[in-house]
Amino acid sequence: MTKVVGSKRTFTDVTDEEAIEFVDIVSDIVAHEEYQKMKNYTHHIGYTRYQHCLNVAWYSYLWCKRSGLNYKSAARGAMLHDFYLYDQHKGEQPIPGRHVEVHPMVALANANKYFEVDDVMYDCIAHHMFPSTSIRPTTMEGYIVSIADKYCAGLEVGKTGVDYMSPYVKEAIKKITE
Ligand SMILES: [Fe+2]
Ligand SMILES: [Fe+2]
Repeated sequence: MTKVVGSKRTFTDVTDEEAIEFVDIVSDIVAHEEYQKMKNYTHHIGYTRYQHCLNVAWYSYLWCKRSGLNYKSAARGAMLHDFYLYDQHKGEQPIPGRHVEVHPMVALANANKYFEVDDVMYDCIAHHMFPSTSIRPTTMEGYIVSIADKYCAGLEVGKTGVDYMSPYVKEAIKKITE
């Protein structure tokens, strides 16, 4: 755990009080043996599911803290929002149904099995796929985690998407953006 996508800040900077606080809030989740298995699953092409959750948790922490919301539960809920250990693309989903509806429920079951889940965390995990699913979050923290999830997915896919492009396309993008 060193940094997140789209940010220059690092979790090893001893002068960054927010980074230190964030690490303190999520460290037991990160260190858990079962949670470490998240590193074995690819998420959004070029990132692990572990890194994706870390990305979402960091932005949820920051946005909730600056909005005067429950940033601790938001960060912990965000860390656990995709806590499922299977690859749906390989047909490994344990129960039938649409992926967008099934994986938040599996993540919630895993979160409850290994950690304490309060009402805000429940909302952040269960409803993070809104509006792809019909049930809205019931807390502001839940909405923020849902938005952070989409924001990070964009950063993750955008970055890796460029990595996969041909040198000619990369050069063209460079000329346009310089
Ligand atoms: Fe998800
Ligand atoms: Fe996600």
